[in-house]
Amino acid sequence: MKIGIFDSGLGGKLVLDAMRELLPQYDYAYYGDTAHLPYGEKEEEEIYRLTKIGVDHLFANENCALVILACNTASAETLRRLQDEYLPTAFPERRILGVIIPTLEAVLESECTNVLMLATNRTVLSGKYHVELGKRNDKDLTIEAVAMSKLVPLIESGDVEAALDEVRSLLKSHATQSKQYDGIILGCTHYSLLAGGLNEVVGGGVTIFAQTEIIPEKIKLYLTDHPELLGKLSEENSVTELLTGNLESQ
Ligand code: DGL
Repeated sequence: MKIGIFDSGLGGKLVLDAMRELLPQYDYAYYGDTAHLPYGEKEEEEIYRLTKIGVDHLFANENCALVILACNTASAETLRRLQDEYLPTAFPERRILGVIIPTLEAVLESECTNVLMLATNRTVLSGKYHVELGKRNDKDLTIEAVAMSKLVPLIESGDVEAALDEVRSLLKSHATQSKQYDGIILGCTHYSLLAGGLNEVVGGGVTIFAQTEIIPEKIKLYLTDHPELLGKLSEENSVTELLTGNLESQ
């Protein structure tokens, strides 16, 4: 059986590449809902409907044992509901994981205490990072969430420099405030592409939390802790990919 990776577009592919680098032996299936991108501006119900279609495809047609929602927006708005309402009747032996809890764990494991989180409008509005932080904040970590939905279309179109400029101006305006951040969470998988550039912008002393670095390590640990799931994974080093935008244009 395969590991499925779901995203609205390019962001999840960055996670897929990082997964394949750390765990190349497994078989992967990717579902990018490029026909309906961006999710970050959609209503919760629509995000649930679209995510469920993608996840169901990965389970039913690609025989995935595990699906990772490599999309913060989908993780924020659909993970719990998919786990509670869909999975137990549709595929009770399989698993769906999101990216928010592993990311928070990584931040809590770090030295950072005052962190800026950049994400889509929908992720910020969901308040999910703060809800989950409230359940496990053992060191007084503060997270300020800022919505930067316009970055997704820029990154999807390949204009990483323009996206970086947007973040630069945001950081400049925040720098005028007294608060000093010691970490930045790239709370949208698309933003992982900005990690290198951002490191140069902020310099040392500010940790950039990119999910391409966090998620593969956390999944590796999860699989070690779940031998019943690990035992089902096939190891032929393959990858299949479905981009819904390509289907519609045919
Ligand atoms: N990559 C997705 C995320 O992590 C969102 C992109 C979109 O708005 O579709 O939130």
